[in-house]
Amino acid sequence: MRFHVLTLFPEMIEQGLGQGILGKAAARQLFTLNVVNIRDYTQERHGKVDDYPYGGGAGMLMQAQPVYDAFEAVTAGRKVRTIYVTPQGEPFTQRKARELSEEEELLFLCGHYEGIDERVLEEIVTDSISIGDYVLTGGELPAMVMIDAIARLLPGVLGNDSSAEEESFHCDLLEYPQYSRPEIWHGQKVPEVLLSGDHRKTAAWRLEQSVSRTAERRPDLYEKYRRKQEMIKRLSS
Ligand code: ADE
Repeated sequence: MRFHVLTLFPEMIEQGLGQGILGKAAARQLFTLNVVNIRDYTQERHGKVDDYPYGGGAGMLMQAQPVYDAFEAVTAGRKVRTIYVTPQGEPFTQRKARELSEEEELLFLCGHYEGIDERVLEEIVTDSISIGDYVLTGGELPAMVMIDAIARLLPGVLGNDSSAEEESFHCDLLEYPQYSRPEIWHGQKVPEVLLSGDHRKTAAWRLEQSVSRTAERRPDLYEKYRRKQEMIKRLSS
């Protein structure tokens, strides 16, 4: 996978994604990350990339020219799925991450100020995606969130390939609680079943924990899970 990010704050992306599991995976060339400073493509003096919106209103807009020229320089005529990171986009989900992880190349466009001139968005954007119903100061954090969620699904990125697989098996449920040594900490004991060595009982306990946690914390996901289970039961009877 090749990720491209068009941004006014390249260091944010490079530093944010250059650490930990993703930093190591990039060093092993399991994916590549090409970060492009939109400001390098402006034709205006003093590196200006923004201007006032026609019709008035608060704040400044990113202009079409530098965004388009940065896009052209990166894509060089190839058709590349181009994601505009915006609170006006469709919601980002695990399903979307899985879908995007199948692409060979992805370009993320990060906006700033009050947004980007609509005309360039119309020409280059294939997908508008939001990471949630709240507004951030720019698209860099959302782009990093999405790249992280996509990159960890790529073969070899997680040390243990079954981590991603197990998740998709339980994809409608929240994770069960986990424990490590010592067996007793602050007077709290690790649940007995996890010490038993009985894999069948352990799996049953974990599923039960996932279900009850989901019902309590995310009734919306629980309802989806319950409907799916009902459907499976009906089809198999
Ligand atoms: N840019 C600013 N806020 C955002 C959000 N919630 N999702 C995606 N991009 C954004």
